[in-house]
Amino acid sequence: MAGNAIGLGNFLRFPRLAAQYGGGAFMIPYLIALLLLGIPLMWLEWSMGRMGGRYGHGTTVGMFGRLCNRPAARLLGTLGVSLPLLFVVFYTYIESWTLAYSWYSAVDAHGTSASSPGELAPPVRGVNAPLLRAMLAGHDEDHDQRLSQSEWTGPGGAFAELDRNGDQIVAAAEMQPVLNPLANAHTYRFLREYQGAAPPGERTYFHSLLPAAGFWLLSVGINVWIISRGISGGVERLARVAMPLLFVFAVALAIRVLTLGAPDPARPENSVWAGLNYIWEPNFAALADFGVWLAAAGQIFFTLSIGTGTIQCYASYLRPDDDCALTGLTTAATNEFAEVVLGATIAIPVSVAVFGLANTQAIASQGSFDLGFVAMPLIFEQMPLGRLFATLWFALLFFAGVTSSVGLCQPMMAFLQEEIRLTRRCAAGVCGALIMALGLPILLWFGHGYMDQYDFWVGTFGLAVFALLEVIAFAWIYGSDGMWRELTHGAQISIPRLVRPVIKYVVPGYLMVLLAGWTYQSWGEAIRLEDVPIEDQPYLWRARWSIILVIAGVAGLAAWATRVYPPASDRSVS
Ligand code: PHE
Repeated sequence: MAGNAIGLGNFLRFPRLAAQYGGGAFMIPYLIALLLLGIPLMWLEWSMGRMGGRYGHGTTVGMFGRLCNRPAARLLGTLGVSLPLLFVVFYTYIESWTLAYSWYSAVDAHGTSASSPGELAPPVRGVNAPLLRAMLAGHDEDHDQRLSQSEWTGPGGAFAELDRNGDQIVAAAEMQPVLNPLANAHTYRFLREYQGAAPPGERTYFHSLLPAAGFWLLSVGINVWIISRGISGGVERLARVAMPLLFVFAVALAIRVLTLGAPDPARPENSVWAGLNYIWEPNFAALADFGVWLAAAGQIFFTLSIGTGTIQCYASYLRPDDDCALTGLTTAATNEFAEVVLGATIAIPVSVAVFGLANTQAIASQGSFDLGFVAMPLIFEQMPLGRLFATLWFALLFFAGVTSSVGLCQPMMAFLQEEIRLTRRCAAGVCGALIMALGLPILLWFGHGYMDQYDFWVGTFGLAVFALLEVIAFAWIYGSDGMWRELTHGAQISIPRLVRPVIKYVVPGYLMVLLAGWTYQSWGEAIRLEDVPIEDQPYLWRARWSIILVIAGVAGLAAWATRVYPPASDRSVS
């Protein structure tokens, strides 16, 4: 379970969000979401899974059917199979980058550059990326990305400093260094070329997508091999080796970072302590921003693996009297240790120490991966033994990734074995084929933003929708008496009574506010695709259709299976 929860979310997604949303400003809504959503839903999913297992169900298809004896419930339950499948499709792609980067770091493929710090655009005093964006959003109605002196509301001298050609206009190219300080770094070019997102004429590292495709196939292959060996023979064995290794690597990296101090004597303000302070100093002013609350709750879902049906699937292999309360809590605690202690001690402090705070924020707001794949390699290049630590960093990410992605495959595996009656090997083959078929467009159309659609609709929106459905099914339809009985049965700790009304009222209320908030916030960009270049839109629609097709396909398959086979009652799955 800990292997499932601890993943790329802990070491890549969390540091980036924390840096982007203002460190200590992010941690408060994050901890509130952990207490009010994360832990209660973790308990709910554990006990739902154990209960399902008692009746021979490993997926939420059968579990929802059990909680509410209606065909529609089983159909909604198929979301607990299609969502993790869609999730693992983009997850394995990022996972394959970590494998590739571990290799490239070991062989020093991006070439250690002596002039790395010089590649970073010089900071402009008092101007940071969020400020610039806010100014653009406030003044620049037709999005032409320029600010004139009269529109400037930032610090006085900064305008002249930014306006390099002196034409009294700060144009997009002149903002670029502040918006993305790493735009000229060789590790940035390396990543863009690897992803196939760099313009064809300007490539030096990669001339085709073949290396990316190769590492991706290798990663999918490793996943399929592990899941074909079953839960105890494959997944548990992997976790037993990969999890301790992951912790050793993470602690080694954290120690390396903490001993870095302030690497540039000329800039004592750029230190790991400034980075840690940034994360841990509470900032109550930011709580008025609804966006922080959405991002924090989304991260809790992502990192605890909630709302995908994977926890239920793992928990279905428990014995009926096994404890859920303490073990569920332990899972959450272990994950949070890896996230807020280890995850937060590596990427942000080291980046603040080397690039400074404003640059770190600008890098983080560039997108999910710049901090991990562009800034970190650049930082390691400047450290003694950097190649070794870079290799460790990406190996750590890979181990964290695989133990999560094999978990994401399990609902589909259980579905194919229980409902469709395939053998385990056959099911693993089908899983692999599906991941490859659905993943190929992500690989080919990455530069068009194809994957971001998956990330939003599946990785953010889908999880919250499914979590809402499961609370309704368990706490309302099955009833909160039954739910409480399941939750507390076999418990090795006593769950506070307060948790019961929290699950029944607070969780669904919180989720509905979140869903409304996401819809509102994403209405323009993610939903109506405003601001998306017209040539990219067809690709994003293809992504959406593929998501709809998978959801409908799995639901159809489940409906077909219910007619052909009587509902599964005994299980022969190991
Ligand atoms: N929790 C994993 C992470 O932090 C991702 C994941 C989500 C895994 C959902 C399984 C199910 O990276």
